[in-house]
Amino acid sequence: MNDFILAPSLLSCDFANLELQIKMLNASKADWLHLDIMDGVFVPNITFGQPVIKYIKKHAQKPLDVHLMIVEPDRYISDFKQCGADILSVHYEGNIHLNRTIAKIKECDMQAAVVLNPHTPVALLEDIIDDCDMVLLMSVNPGFGGQSFIANSLKKISQLKDMIIRHNAQCLIEVDGGISLDNYRSILKAGADVLVAGNAIFATDNPSATIDKFKA
Ligand code: DX5
Ligand code: ZN
Repeated sequence: MNDFILAPSLLSCDFANLELQIKMLNASKADWLHLDIMDGVFVPNITFGQPVIKYIKKHAQKPLDVHLMIVEPDRYISDFKQCGADILSVHYEGNIHLNRTIAKIKECDMQAAVVLNPHTPVALLEDIIDDCDMVLLMSVNPGFGGQSFIANSLKKISQLKDMIIRHNAQCLIEVDGGISLDNYRSILKAGADVLVAGNAIFATDNPSATIDKFKA
């Protein structure tokens, strides 16, 4: 159970001290840095874009896991590669030509992930799962940190795990939203490989010690 990837979400960190936060993550047991890109159209919130990622990349010694919550992500795929993304996640709900989008991400030498909102059935991935390096299951409605984990997500993790096994696909399961020290074990038990946590890490007095607790 300890062998999972932990990806702290910088959405909840102190952006005035970004360099310090990244150095803390470099020295911690965190595996990836999860970056939430929101455009105020696909989701009702705005965060940051390529110029900020470029400087995060300058300091980060771990892979950048970039979660796009934007319309028309196809327009920016090579930009995200250039500013330092290692893994690029695009929403099923925001893409008409998902097969083409996934291919483009891979052509740009990034790992490609498809994201499902809480209401989107796992079964819709049947014809794209073999092309995905990862599927990201949203366990909250995207847009904000600090929301509660939607319990139905556990069922979706198991369904996705079954699909991956059935296809013999090389695809990780990432879960994002409302993950805490109280519920993360059940999420891993359901089949998750990668856990994103924002508030549960950065809202504590000692984020590095909290990361240790997740990894203990
Ligand atoms: C929400 C984002 C998440 C968010 C998770 O739209 O995709 O990555 O930062 O935050 P917590 O862990 O606080 O729910
Ligand atoms: Zn996210």
